[in-house]
Amino acid sequence: MKKNFLAKYTFNDNSYKIIENSFSESDQRVQETLFTIGNGFIGSRGIMEENPLYSCPGTFISGMYGISAAQVEELINLPNPINCVVAVDGEKFDIFTMKVLSHRRVLDMKNGVLVRKTLFQDAKKRKYIYQSVRFFSMDDPHIGAMKISIKLLKGTANIAAMSRIDDSVYNSGGLMLSRRRHFNTVKADKEEYFDYTAFRTNFYKDIIAYGDAFIIDYEGRSFPIIDRFFQFDLRTGQEIIFTKIFSIYTSRKYSAKSIKRETMRALNDAVEKGFDRLFQEHIKKFNERWKNSDIVIKGDYDCQRAVRFNIYHMLISTREEYAIYSIAAKTLSGQGYRGHIFWDTEIYLLPFYIYTQPEIARNLLKFRFNTLPQAKNIAKEKGYEGAMYPWEATVSGTEQTPRYSKDVDGRIVEVKTHDFEHHITADVAYGVYNYYSVTGDKQFMIDYGAEILFETARFWASRVSYNKKDKKYHINGIIGPDEFHVNVNDNAYTNYLAKWNLKSGVEIYNELKNGEKIKKTLKKIKLALKEIEKWKDIAESIVILKSKKHKIINQFDGYLRKKDYTVKGYDKNFMPLTPKYFEYAGLDKTRLIKQADVLLLFHLFGEEFTKDEKISNYNYYIMRTIHKSSLSYCMHSIVSACLEDYFRSFCFFWMAVNIDLMDIPNNTADGIHAANLGGVWQALIFGYGGVSCSGGEVKITSKLPKNFKSLKFKFFNRGDLFEVEESDTQVKLRFLPENNKSDKRRLVKVYGEEVMLTPHRYKTIKSREVYKEMITVKDVIKKENLVTVGENTTVRKIGKLLLEKKISSVVVVDRDKNLKGIISEINVIKSTFDEKAGELKASRIMETKVIFVNGNDSLEKITKVFTKYPYRRLPVLKGNKVIGVITRRDIIADFLGGYY
Ligand code: IFM
Repeated sequence: MKKNFLAKYTFNDNSYKIIENSFSESDQRVQETLFTIGNGFIGSRGIMEENPLYSCPGTFISGMYGISAAQVEELINLPNPINCVVAVDGEKFDIFTMKVLSHRRVLDMKNGVLVRKTLFQDAKKRKYIYQSVRFFSMDDPHIGAMKISIKLLKGTANIAAMSRIDDSVYNSGGLMLSRRRHFNTVKADKEEYFDYTAFRTNFYKDIIAYGDAFIIDYEGRSFPIIDRFFQFDLRTGQEIIFTKIFSIYTSRKYSAKSIKRETMRALNDAVEKGFDRLFQEHIKKFNERWKNSDIVIKGDYDCQRAVRFNIYHMLISTREEYAIYSIAAKTLSGQGYRGHIFWDTEIYLLPFYIYTQPEIARNLLKFRFNTLPQAKNIAKEKGYEGAMYPWEATVSGTEQTPRYSKDVDGRIVEVKTHDFEHHITADVAYGVYNYYSVTGDKQFMIDYGAEILFETARFWASRVSYNKKDKKYHINGIIGPDEFHVNVNDNAYTNYLAKWNLKSGVEIYNELKNGEKIKKTLKKIKLALKEIEKWKDIAESIVILKSKKHKIINQFDGYLRKKDYTVKGYDKNFMPLTPKYFEYAGLDKTRLIKQADVLLLFHLFGEEFTKDEKISNYNYYIMRTIHKSSLSYCMHSIVSACLEDYFRSFCFFWMAVNIDLMDIPNNTADGIHAANLGGVWQALIFGYGGVSCSGGEVKITSKLPKNFKSLKFKFFNRGDLFEVEESDTQVKLRFLPENNKSDKRRLVKVYGEEVMLTPHRYKTIKSREVYKEMITVKDVIKKENLVTVGENTTVRKIGKLLLEKKISSVVVVDRDKNLKGIISEINVIKSTFDEKAGELKASRIMETKVIFVNGNDSLEKITKVFTKYPYRRLPVLKGNKVIGVITRRDIIADFLGGYY
């Protein structure tokens, strides 16, 4: 029997693993987010069992929200079942406080488990192998299990262990609020050997019930611990194993009366099965989730692993029966955005579910159907008709955007998104239509979708205003996806989607109008032909502003009157540097934009624009977009791929696929960036895989990045499952028909050529014009007139160049003009903190690792940096600007209260 948990519980393929090889205090919370495990009902952050200092436990149940002295509702941080404290002679086994000789944690994404092995040494120099493994069952979402083993390598030791459901957790305070708990304990009980604890949430009065069993394997015996506490002796080579099994139910499923019975019944059944059987049942179901969702990339191992990481987090974000609570912007992995639901779901995440798990997609949309009455209220309150969806939602369906928030630069700002960011209403409609178009699920459209489409179209018809002068409809007072510009008129994205929403309302009306069931809906919402005619009329005359001079779609009316700042430098990932003159407070006066806005239209409605139109807009906006949102890279990757700007597309893709793994936005500690997960999937399937499915027609024009040898994936269309493998020379595909209908045929288009598929049989089509050489760095340098330097150029010279040319970075190339790296202003400033700065060579600058501290960092944190690294002074940053230097002297002076 394998005793090593890593060998026993993980799958034998490292591309499904995220590995942590050492403990880092500063990365702790990021790791906890990355290592979140769950099953779509519950999400549990990857904390360590001992709950070390600065750890942030997070246990979230889909749809469990509350409000308690906060500005708005939030996803509740519930009691933490992953809690087990073990100590020897009063010294806790703790990654933070006990000596650690080696440490490894593995998130096995294939099996959905978190496994750990730490070699501890106590104060008396005794060594222990500490192992743990845990999962939340994908088979029975109400069951979780964990196991801890401790083995003493030499000597004797007296050890104590304690485990409980930790209710000392809290939701971290937002602005002007302290941390708070959203629940109270209503029952703490015992049933035979096991514990029962029930909590009631303060606002919605939901009951969350936990049953937990704590079982010991010691000296050949296995027995439950009744008092949650156990003390024992270990001798050389001896091992003890603690198993904790828990069941968690909410009063959504069982009434307050029967919840205890059901929770304890489920716990007893689970204990009876035991850890290993529960684990087998869990991985069987978890592997089934991967079956149609996995993407196999040959040729780029790092991408493969990172792609799986993104898919893994979508697999644990929701499940069929809980999708009706939708998906929060940080999934069930953290408290960021208070667990609110945005357009992220319909535009970014939904396609993954539509194409791989349509049942979940259907229920995600039912969330919007169920909250249609609240959306109608919002419209009414604001003086509009139809339904207007909240910018930030929770289960209540009401508007939950907070009034105040902290901006990225730390300023407290009034939030205006819910007043102006109205495109969410059309995004929801787009999600409905997209689901229908890909699945062909007419029953859904009749029962739920049509009503959403009609009520949202109705909203836009009342939201537009008619201008007698130009005889056009306008939409004023808007924030588009680019949130830098507030309260603008005729935002292109919003107008285009409103137009589309109205047209789709008409189209679906005409398609369904004669059915009996839809007649009921039409009667219920009092929709008359006259209104439909009006929608048609408005849709035709909604203005989309264009500039002849720049050959672009104007992002909004007046956009071209803003100051024109463009991107002039790139960072080491070839991402645009924030221009020097950048100040958050004045952004609305510039043409700089936060994330894809006009360009997003080319992804959503690609076939409605000409290539020339796309190219000129792309060239224009790409130079003015600074990607200050995690929703930006993925969409740019798709659009760049479609326009064959492959080098740049892959740079965007690399950023998107690694957003959380590399903590690019510096806030992964707050939770996974959900929208980006779906965006990465779309970039691969639509961008590189070249799949498009509109109106039941499957088209494939693959455009693989040069470093991919092949790309293999599956997707559903109209109930049939397609299996596709693309390489640089061919596309191989087949379909498995819905209900195994053997006489079914599917006509698909590959590189524009018609191909008839028969069930189960692969067809191979040779690549046509595609798989072009990737645009190289050399091309980009030429095209964008970038300044290059050789590897031996000194920092003095580079600094001078940056100043003279008013640029923020130079590209370092070797003799053959191959990219060696990029040196930005920041690197140059960094280097001046080194000795003999001026003489440093470019090749050295790229390696310098000077630590920066942030303007808002606490003295405590800075002191730690000084203690850890041999610096005498540290540059202080605000954004990417150095705003000062802090020395050891400053720190000491401050600690002495200013007397020094
Ligand atoms: O919905 C997004 C928005 O587009 C940009 N800021 C973050 C939100 C939540 O992810």
